[in-house]
Amino acid sequence: MCGIVAVIGSRDAAPLLLEGLKQLEYRGYDSAGLATIEFSSQASNNGSLTCLRAGGKLVNLNSLVDRDGAPGQLGIGHTRWATHGKPEEKNAHPHRDSSGGLAVVQNGIIENHRYLRKELESEGVSFLSDTDTEVIPHLIARQLQLSLAEGMSPSGSILVEAVRKVSLELKGAYALAVIWDKTPESLVVARRQAPLLIGLGEGEFLCASDTPALAGFTRTILPMEDGEVALLTPLGIELYDIRGERQQRSPSLLNGLEDVVTKRNFRHFMLKEIYEQPEKAKLWVDRHLPYGLPASSPIAYPFENSFYEGIERIQILACGTSRHAGMVGAYLLEQFAGIPTSVFYASEFRYSAPPLAPNTLTIGVTQSGETADTLAALAMESRRRKSHGNPAFAPRQLGITNRSESSIARQVPNILDIGSGIEVGVAATKTFLGQLLAFYGLALTFASRRKSRSVEEITTMANELRNLPSQLFSLIEKHDQLSISLSQMFSETQNVIFLGRGINYPIALEGALKLKEISYIHAEGYPAGEMKHGPIALLEKRVPVISIATPGVVFEKVLSNAQEAKARDAKLIGVAPNGLAEEVFDALLPIPEVSEWMSPLFSVIPMQLLSYHIAANRGLDIDQPRNLAKSVTVE
Ligand code: AGP
Repeated sequence: MCGIVAVIGSRDAAPLLLEGLKQLEYRGYDSAGLATIEFSSQASNNGSLTCLRAGGKLVNLNSLVDRDGAPGQLGIGHTRWATHGKPEEKNAHPHRDSSGGLAVVQNGIIENHRYLRKELESEGVSFLSDTDTEVIPHLIARQLQLSLAEGMSPSGSILVEAVRKVSLELKGAYALAVIWDKTPESLVVARRQAPLLIGLGEGEFLCASDTPALAGFTRTILPMEDGEVALLTPLGIELYDIRGERQQRSPSLLNGLEDVVTKRNFRHFMLKEIYEQPEKAKLWVDRHLPYGLPASSPIAYPFENSFYEGIERIQILACGTSRHAGMVGAYLLEQFAGIPTSVFYASEFRYSAPPLAPNTLTIGVTQSGETADTLAALAMESRRRKSHGNPAFAPRQLGITNRSESSIARQVPNILDIGSGIEVGVAATKTFLGQLLAFYGLALTFASRRKSRSVEEITTMANELRNLPSQLFSLIEKHDQLSISLSQMFSETQNVIFLGRGINYPIALEGALKLKEISYIHAEGYPAGEMKHGPIALLEKRVPVISIATPGVVFEKVLSNAQEAKARDAKLIGVAPNGLAEEVFDALLPIPEVSEWMSPLFSVIPMQLLSYHIAANRGLDIDQPRNLAKSVTVE
């Protein structure tokens, strides 16, 4: 999390930095800052560094820049999601060395910062913030002092070398950008386990932690590899690996960012993104489910036969909403395609993975492609399998992501791009649907290859998926209206319980997560049958229960569980087809009567819209809820 932008060129840096930061605000919005350098004297070759920082959202930094100005064609900017130190001005980036002439912005966590801070303090350095980042400018300054003491002159070369050497001292994950007033024509950037991309613009070079910040300026990008350090000057880019060896690589072109980020006529990005789901589902159907494919190979996915061969089990690693999609995926892969499948919190898997099993496909699910825990869990799994030596245990990995240019795509050999388009709202909606569809495609493919389902069953599911876009379209319009009125009853609510079973249990979890994220109402999702084992003690008339009851093996069971809740005076809201069990519920959010397999694709819509309208009624900042960030690039 946190967003970094940097630029060196011939026009004023500050407006570019602010524009780039605006596109990155979804990565964090606790505070923001920038530093620029302007030539103050050609003769001395020194620049003068301006550093401006403001607590709160980017708009506060905008005002500061308008008021005080930030001249110069070289600059670095940052939007923060607090890890170390409260979200206040003194902890906002950039952080500077004791002279004030060297400024650093950083994304990530420096895990050995306490040790480094003590060491620097013992050398007489005073710290002005509570952040882990502040050690970096002091360490670089110390390194530069050594070079100057050896008689070297200030130059981009000694700056890049100082940053490289300091990188070796840092533990943890980071992306950083550095400027120094003694070298006003040099920008140095570095990364380890946190994304950073260089952009090649017209007459300028840029650098950012994510593509939207670059897309307005250039389509030509050079993603930095892990451990690399780069020197950007008006003349070009010098790229070095962590040993200081010069690297040569060609840039690539950015695609698919045309629909970046306007709300159109919607009040919030989240609502716009909910409404985009039918169109995105149609794109997926057109791309992957064209008519005429043989039942033996019902999905057009970009994998060779060998990708599917010999897989005996699947494990899914993900966080948050992506894990919920993985849970639906696991249900489909086990129950429809017959492959034993487990789902893990990536953050837990990293440190307590199960014993290795042979012929296992590991699927990482991450819409951003940058979630640190998911990437680290995948890397750890790959390492331990490689070191095993037996080919049956070799790593086989697939990434399901919405960002095919992201870190996961550089880490994992096989990628399924869900193609949902950039999602700006912090609460994932259209990308959840995209992830679900990716799993439906995998389940269909495995089922037909393994003959765990008949041709008729496979054809039926494929046709149901083809009908999805048009059904979703009317469902969203209807539920938008229904949720507006139903949301009124939540004006004083403090706790909500979501119940689901089987394939809809993950949707209950997702409903609870959506509500918590954007409305700050405490909510829990439970498997409906588990209620009576404890959570039922929470129920009383002020605790609404939202129960997903869709026809299938557990339909009657869910209705019984719902009635147990009603008997405890809870207000009962059903997500169920019309005409099957209205009498059970105090209010009904009707969804079409579809097969049990398909039901999550429909039951999630009322979850999204009800949460949205409850939060909107409360006047909350739906697209940028407190304490959250869109991609979580720290552990
Ligand atoms: C979803 O609404 C959340 N913002 C969050 O749980 C998210 O799904 C999680 O952080 C994982 O993100 P990823 O898909 O980018 O890996």
